[in-house]
Amino acid sequence: MAIKVLGVVGTPVKGETNTEILCQAVLDGAKAQGDDVEVEIVCLAEMKIVAGCTHCNWCLEKQTAEKFCSQNDDITKSLYAKVVEADALVIATPVYIGRLSWLTAAFIDRLRALFEGRYYGIRGPLGGVLMDKVVTGASVAWIRHGGVETALMSLMQMAAILGLIYVTPGFSFGAGGVSAAPLGEYGAVGKDKFAMRNAHNTGARLVQVARIIRAGKEALRYTPAYVR
Ligand SMILES: Cc1cc2nc3c(=O)[nH]c(=O)nc-3n(C[C@H](O)[C@H](O)[C@H](O)COP(=O)(O)O)c2cc1C
Repeated sequence: MAIKVLGVVGTPVKGETNTEILCQAVLDGAKAQGDDVEVEIVCLAEMKIVAGCTHCNWCLEKQTAEKFCSQNDDITKSLYAKVVEADALVIATPVYIGRLSWLTAAFIDRLRALFEGRYYGIRGPLGGVLMDKVVTGASVAWIRHGGVETALMSLMQMAAILGLIYVTPGFSFGAGGVSAAPLGEYGAVGKDKFAMRNAHNTGARLVQVARIIRAGKEALRYTPAYVR
């Protein structure tokens, strides 16, 4: 069975972006771990997204297998299903004022529907579809010390709250890089050699841990159960 890795790119900029390049490097590192690894990248900027979570609590009371969220947008129509299917997630964000971007935050907030929702959440019949998925972060700032680590740490905090398992390659909080270059030059993170190599290593480690979790679950015949 394939190991599925989903990259979600949270820059609001369309076209070639630094965040997508770094995310793709993580996915390349994942893919290099074997022919059974399937990767997919989704750019939130290309999707129709109504809003982040509006705390309407529809998902807590009315969520079904067919409908994840009350909002009728592309997260509900297609992205939730991809997250459910994935064994591993790469959440990639540009640094905005020393933290993750508003668009990345909107996506993360919408994951509440998969953590607490009536069907997909921890009290539902599946035991919580986010539990035991592995996740890592990728982040690009303009300058070194401009906020990559604080953005990555907010992704680690997200993992803690959502029951996800955050993976690092060791030595760093995940994949981080800088895009400092003459204004308007997109893709500059691709020239940050350390960033690209570390991103590759991050993707490799993500798949290694996903494999360990899958093997462990199979050996234990385990399905996640929320400890009440
Ligand atoms: C609103 C806003 C806030 C930003 N804040 C920071 C910051 O705090 N530190 C930094 O180094 N770069 C900052 N940047 C620059 C972006 O992080 C940087 O250009 C990044 O490479 C953009 O990624 P993208 O090409 O994927 O959109 C900011 C950019 C914007 C638009």
